[in-house]
Amino acid sequence: MGLRSNFVTLLPLFLLLVSNAKGQSAAGGGVFDVTSFGAKPNGDITGVRTLKLNFITNSIVKDITSLDSKNYHINLLGCKNLTFDHVTITAPENSPNTDGIHVSSSEQINILNTNIATGDDCISVGDTNKQIVISDVTCGPGHGISIGSLGKYTKEKEVVGVTVKKCKLTSTTNGVRIKTWPDSVGTFPATDMHFEDIEMDNVSNPIIIDQEYCPWNQCNRKENKILRSVVNLHQLMVHQPIEVL
Ligand SMILES: *[C@@H]1O[C@H](CO)[C@@H](O)[C@H](O)[C@H]1NC(C)=O
Ligand SMILES: *[C@@H]1O[C@H](CO)[C@@H](O)[C@H](O)[C@H]1NC(C)=O
Repeated sequence: MGLRSNFVTLLPLFLLLVSNAKGQSAAGGGVFDVTSFGAKPNGDITGVRTLKLNFITNSIVKDITSLDSKNYHINLLGCKNLTFDHVTITAPENSPNTDGIHVSSSEQINILNTNIATGDDCISVGDTNKQIVISDVTCGPGHGISIGSLGKYTKEKEVVGVTVKKCKLTSTTNGVRIKTWPDSVGTFPATDMHFEDIEMDNVSNPIIIDQEYCPWNQCNRKENKILRSVVNLHQLMVHQPIEVL
C-alpha cells in the first residue's frame, strides 16, 4: 500500500491506518471534523479536501464520519481496489462544493452502506475510472450522484463500468446524472453505466444525461467526441410530493 504525503488533511489519518504484512490495510473508527482543527467549515472555495486518498491500493476504509468539510469531504486519485464501508458524511444543504466522495483515475472502487448528506454531489465520478460500484448508499440533501463532467481536458481517459444500485435519494436537486462537454477535446468511451434499484423521494431532476454540459457558456458547441454513453436503467422508483396549490 502506498500512502503518499499529499493528502492535505489536517487530521491524523495515520493513526487510523493499520497495515499488515501483505500490504493490505484498513482504516476505521474516526470522526473527521474540520472545526476541531480550527478550519472554516462548509463552503470554502479552495481545493482543500478533508481526506485525500492518493494511490491507495487493496484497502478498506470503514466506520468513519466526516463532518462539515471545508471543500470536498473525500477525494480519491489513482486508487485501486479500495472499499468504503459504513461511512457517514454530513454537511449542511447550503454549503457549496462539499462533494461527499469524488473519484478520479481509479479502479475497483466500492462505496457501500454509506450515508451522505451534503451541499453538493453526494458522490461524483470523474474521468479515467473503471469498475466503480456504489451500493446501499443514501443521499440527501445534496446534488445527487453524478458521473462527470467528462471531456474537458485532453489527458482524460475512459470511464467504464459504473454501477449504482440499491440507493435511496431524498430531497436532492438531482438524482443520477452523466455530464459530458460538447466540445470534448479527447475521444474516449463512457460506457457500461448501470443505475439499478434506486428510490428517489422529492428529487427535482431524477435522471439527467447531458451530452452538452456547458455551464456559464464555457464551450463552443462543437461535436461531442465522447462515444455515446451506454446507460442501463432498471427499477427506478421516483416519488414526488404532490403540490397543493
Ligand atoms: C482487494 O483488497 C482487499 C482488502 O484489502 C483484499 O482482501 C483483496 O485481496 C484485494 N483484491 C485483490 C484482487 O487484490
Ligand atoms: C424537497 O427537497 C427540497 C430540496 O431540493 C427541500 O428544500 C424541501 O424541503 C423538500 N421537501 C420535502 C417535502 O421534503
